Amino acid sequence: MDKIEIEGGTKLKGEVKISGAKNAALPLMAASILSSGENYIHNLPQLRDISTMGKLLAHIGMGYHQENGEVLLNSNNISSIEAPYDFVKTMRASVLVLGPLLARQGEAKVSLPGGCAIGARPINLHTAGFEKMGAEIDLSGGYIHAKAKKLKGAVIYCDIPTVTGTENIMMAATLAEGETIIENAACEPEIVDLANALISMGADIEGAGTSIIKIKGVNSLNPLNYRIIPDRIAAGTFMAAAAITGGEVRINDCRPEHLEAVISKLKGTGTEITQETDSLFIKGSERLLSQDIKTMPHPGFPTDMQAQFMALMTVANGTSLITENIFENRFMHVAELKRMGADITVEGSTSTVRGIKRLTGAPVMATDLRASASLIIAGLAAKGKTVIDRVYHLDRGYERIEEKLELIGAKIRRVK
Ligand code: EPU
Repeated sequence: MDKIEIEGGTKLKGEVKISGAKNAALPLMAASILSSGENYIHNLPQLRDISTMGKLLAHIGMGYHQENGEVLLNSNNISSIEAPYDFVKTMRASVLVLGPLLARQGEAKVSLPGGCAIGARPINLHTAGFEKMGAEIDLSGGYIHAKAKKLKGAVIYCDIPTVTGTENIMMAATLAEGETIIENAACEPEIVDLANALISMGADIEGAGTSIIKIKGVNSLNPLNYRIIPDRIAAGTFMAAAAITGGEVRINDCRPEHLEAVISKLKGTGTEITQETDSLFIKGSERLLSQDIKTMPHPGFPTDMQAQFMALMTVANGTSLITENIFENRFMHVAELKRMGADITVEGSTSTVRGIKRLTGAPVMATDLRASASLIIAGLAAKGKTVIDRVYHLDRGYERIEEKLELIGAKIRRVK
């Protein structure tokens, strides 16, 4: 199993290029099920989650070919309606095929995802939405079996603004009869990107990016030919890495408007940030100032940046309160950061981080994707060597992160 070794203490300096967004790519790949023909997606990151989704689409009969950041998905032939447990257990986002399969094939059978490292993560809001659209849902044998000859438009209120739930319902609604209105929809940039892609396929969608999305069903959709947005969480992770080392880093090919909450909080730490249309320049300060954060649905502070921001706060001047409002168990990185000397106490959904002068390198274990990123950030600033185990979590969501960090001066290497 691969490990990552970091010798901390060097200031990062140089330029880094952000890859396409994992969480935009996954729903887009699933959306290709809605068409019949050759779908092209550009700027696709090379990640384990992307190849898992590719294999799942191949399993249901689609042609799948990925090369140099492009993917070709041939959706002429769908021979299965089932996403088996083996796929769903390695990647929860497999559930994104449910809506498109139901809309195109009138039936879908998807293994029910279990809980995961960050929380219980039920999918009741996805299934409730499909039921409102007239689908029959049967939950048995660990599978969700959804059937509907033809989905019908409906008004669907989501108790919680769920990202993949909104995506699943939006995709299904594009081929439903009549109008679907999603109320309290998620507003993340990935939702807007999916809506733009679906519109480019011929869908009729209004309001993506706001809490009310209206979708008028159409008879058929054309294949995709679409370039996905840059990964805002990868950009935020490099921003945090630059800031904690007091470095000077230009982050290219990003969309600063997707990162307002992160930019605002990082500025509060004393980090200088210059924004351009598709790049950001980060200049770290000698000592970071503490900042409180509360994770919220977009445009609030993203839960996917909470662990990385906490790493910064471990060495800030002062005490920071970090409240996780999206997932009930997303503090697994705390125990690992404490092994590096961090002073953190957790009570309920809030962590109190008392900044210390310097972390010390230690052997630590990655527990989920963003927790792994926070340990890298901590390791970059720590005194001595940090060895991160279980980096397969990292490979799910960051494209060649160690190579990109090495190019800007980090002493980092992957040990096979
Ligand atoms: N929820 C329900 N019922 C549902 C759906 C969600 O109770 O049917 C709850 C969840 O348990 C959670 C909250 O609603 O407490 C929000 O969850 P959401 O559904 O928005 O999360 P998700 O769609 O499963 C996506 C990202 C996550 C990201 C969250 C929140 C993808 C593939 N995944 O997950 O990304 O943290 O939105 O922004 O888009 C990551 O990339 O590391 C990652 C975990």
